[in-house]
Amino acid sequence: MSDLKVGLAGLGTVGAAVIRMLERRAGDLFARTGRGIKVVAVAARDRTKDRGVDLSGVRWYEDPVELARDPDIDVFVELMGGSDDPAKAAVIAALECGRPVVTANKALLAKWGADLARIAEASGASLHFEAAVAGGIPIVKTLRESLAGNVVERVSGILNGTCNYMLTRMADEKISFQDCLAEAQRLGYAEADPTFDIDGFDTAHKLAILTSLAFGTQVDADAIYVEGIRQLTLEDLEAADDLGYKVKLLGVALRTETGIEQRVHPTMVPKHWPIAQVSGVTNAVAVDADAVSLTLVGPGAGGDATASAVVGDLADVARGVAGFVFGMPVATLMKPERAPMQRHEGGYYIRLSVVNKPGTAATIARRMADEGISLESIVQRRPEGQQGEAAQGTARVILITYATSEEAVRRAIAAIEADGVVNALPQVIRIEKD
Ligand code: NAP
Ligand code: HSE
Repeated sequence: MSDLKVGLAGLGTVGAAVIRMLERRAGDLFARTGRGIKVVAVAARDRTKDRGVDLSGVRWYEDPVELARDPDIDVFVELMGGSDDPAKAAVIAALECGRPVVTANKALLAKWGADLARIAEASGASLHFEAAVAGGIPIVKTLRESLAGNVVERVSGILNGTCNYMLTRMADEKISFQDCLAEAQRLGYAEADPTFDIDGFDTAHKLAILTSLAFGTQVDADAIYVEGIRQLTLEDLEAADDLGYKVKLLGVALRTETGIEQRVHPTMVPKHWPIAQVSGVTNAVAVDADAVSLTLVGPGAGGDATASAVVGDLADVARGVAGFVFGMPVATLMKPERAPMQRHEGGYYIRLSVVNKPGTAATIARRMADEGISLESIVQRRPEGQQGEAAQGTARVILITYATSEEAVRRAIAAIEADGVVNALPQVIRIEKD
């Protein structure tokens, strides 16, 4: 059979790793697919940059959309990133020509997934995106194909390698937030704009895709409640450790009586839970379904891990594997009912910086009781670095609640703030317990 001719836009961390992997694994890929997989044309911004890969004999395009339309490629691979043009225009151009597309771009799929799927269905092109969710973990195929006979109740996990890497190093080595972020960028884990990672949007993009695959619903990224890790301090991670927890940025989607709850936020999980032990750039995705419950764990970011998923998709294209983008025709994907975050129920960690005067603890306890919130523990801590007299002005109070509602917690905190006993923004971290 003739070679599969690849046009690849984006030669950064992932693009360069894909070229290296295709070269390194050429023999085995041929044996598995019966075809050679050859990069014949590329696009990026800077033609002069040394990318550590041999591009001699490969056609260069300034414009990725032109590359996508090149009639002499069999598949278009989009590894530029970004939810809009040129990634969007190039993917649409390829799909409209009936050309298969492979992408790692979760921002694009979370925003335009349904439109792209419609275009793909109309032209008969396939759209492959295993690398868009959880790097090297094959969760897209698992949900779309392997678990097709299941009714999924919940899909959740650690979906951002950058944040998990940062939280691990902050907790274990007491390294500052900024230093951990810089290292994650150096290692090629972070997005081009790392605020997508640390503010939770990257996790939300991935969760939106997983929710669609798991529940047969239209991608609904706007329905996701999103909080990132920017506000977490070393003090919070240390307090969590003292209390027997690890803090993880989790993405959770679950079926509830009122609809599908989708949320992304830092979560305290008991240290003995397997997910608490998932550290560094590793991701984990748990699926709870009626027939099967499973957890997949693996590298969530980085050149090689992501290239592994892209090359897997290319092997599918070479073999002629295709199917509905989100597992079923777009027209049959349901509009999801949204479960509002205020209804969320669980335990809470609340850290308050309070005015250290008589009556403060009583005020806090009263406001909690007014909302029917039962406290598992209440601890007053001296702020870091303050001793003796200096510590008397401000105190840290850490509350751990039994299961309660988000609504009740928000109202209690607002009342405590209105009472004038706190002197900084409260910190709230949701807790998952046995
Ligand atoms: P990256 O290192 O920033 O590389 C982006 C590449 O796209 C660069 O080669 C850049 O060209 C090119 N590019 C950007 N804008 C362009 C434009 N307007 N026209 C032509 N080329 C353009 O990004 P990356 O980390 O490889 O990520 C690529 C994609 O994979 C993103 O969608 C990302 O979300 C996704 N992803 C990344 C990882 C990871 O661990 N890094 C994991 C999973 C998924 P120049 O090099 O010339 O500037
Ligand atoms: N920036 C992303 C992460 C890349 O850190 O998880 C993988 O999608």
